[in-house]
Amino acid sequence: MRRKLVVGNWKMNGSRTANSVLLSGVVAGLTPAGAACAVCVPAPYLAQCEAELSGTPLAWGAQDMSAYASGAYTGEVAAGMLLDFACSYVILGHSERRAYHVESDALVAQKTVAALAAGLTPIVCIGETLAQREAGQTEAVVGAQLGAVLDAIGAGDVARIVLAYEPVWAIGTGKTATPQMAQDVHLLLRAQVATKNAAAAAGVQILYGGSMKPDNAKELMAMPDIDGGLIGGAALKAADFLAIVHAAD
Ligand code: G3P
Repeated sequence: MRRKLVVGNWKMNGSRTANSVLLSGVVAGLTPAGAACAVCVPAPYLAQCEAELSGTPLAWGAQDMSAYASGAYTGEVAAGMLLDFACSYVILGHSERRAYHVESDALVAQKTVAALAAGLTPIVCIGETLAQREAGQTEAVVGAQLGAVLDAIGAGDVARIVLAYEPVWAIGTGKTATPQMAQDVHLLLRAQVATKNAAAAAGVQILYGGSMKPDNAKELMAMPDIDGGLIGGAALKAADFLAIVHAAD
C-alpha cells in the first residue's frame, strides 16, 4: 500500500512573515498517522524552513535545481546546496520551467540523475498541454517525458522517484482533470515505470497536480493510482492545504 503524499508548490510566492504564519498553521493541523506532507518553497526561504520545520512532520524542498554540482552557472542552485538546508524533495521539470525556461526532457532527466545522486527525492513533473490533448498526443507526450527520465536513471533508483502528473491546461485555471481522466494517465505512467522495474513500479507515488482543491481532492485521491497531490494555489492558505492533506488521510 502506497502512503499518500501531499506537496505544496508555493511557486514564486511568500515572505518571511507570511511563511511563518503559513508553516506554523500547517504544522499545527497535521496528524501523525496521516498522509506524508511537504512544502517546496522559493530557494531563499529554505533556511527558514529548516529553522521552523526541523523536528516537525512537515518536510520541505525546492522547486528546481541545476543539473551540475558547482561552477560557473550564475543564478543556479545545486543539489548540494539544497542538502545544506536539509531538503528532502526537489520538484523537477515543472511545466512552468519547461515553458518559460525551455527545459527539455533531456535536461529534466539529467537533473533527476543529479538529485538522486545527491540523495534528494525528485518530484518529476509530467503533463500535456491543451493543444496536445486535443490533438490526441497525451500518451505520446507524457510517455516521452517519463521515458527520458527512466532511460537516464538506474533500475535500482526507480523506487526513489516521485512522479507528478500535471496536465498543463489544469494548472491555475480552475479546470481539473476528472478523476477518471487523471487515473487513466496515472495508470499509463505506472505501466511505463514497470517496464524499467516491475517490482518498484507498484510502490512509486504518482501525484496529481492541477487545480486540486479541498472540494475535489478526495475524489481524485480515491482513484487507485493517484497517490496524492502537488498543490499550487491551494497550498498558500493553511486551511485549504490542510483540508487537502486530510482528504488524503
Ligand atoms: O505544481 C503545482 C501546480 O502546478 C498546480 O497548481 O495552482 O493549479 O494547484 P494549481
